[in-house]
Amino acid sequence: DEPGTVTAVPEGHFYMCSLNDGSFIALSRNCTHLGCSVPWDEKKQMFVCPCHGSTFDQTGKVLTPPAIRPLDYFPVRIENGLLLVDISMPLKRQAFDPSQSVRM
Ligand code: FES
Repeated sequence: DEPGTVTAVPEGHFYMCSLNDGSFIALSRNCTHLGCSVPWDEKKQMFVCPCHGSTFDQTGKVLTPPAIRPLDYFPVRIENGLLLVDISMPLKRQAFDPSQSVRM
């Protein structure tokens, strides 16, 4: 994907985000406020929660409260040129860190 692309993966309940530094992060679609499913707004280039208006950037970072924690993420690894996402457990975090994303 082009950097800046956000692709919904409905079966896995996550988004694969292609970040501007060329890496990929898999974000949970559940809002960290009260768990609503958060859609990506292509025009605004942010995730906008329909329930209480929290917004998140492409790395999952909070832009607008009431959410206080970034979107959870799933570990991604690369095998034979494929991005594999371990969806067994969403991981909580306090901030984005490049170690949460992978490079092809
Ligand atoms: Fe998303 Fe409340 S559940 S802002």
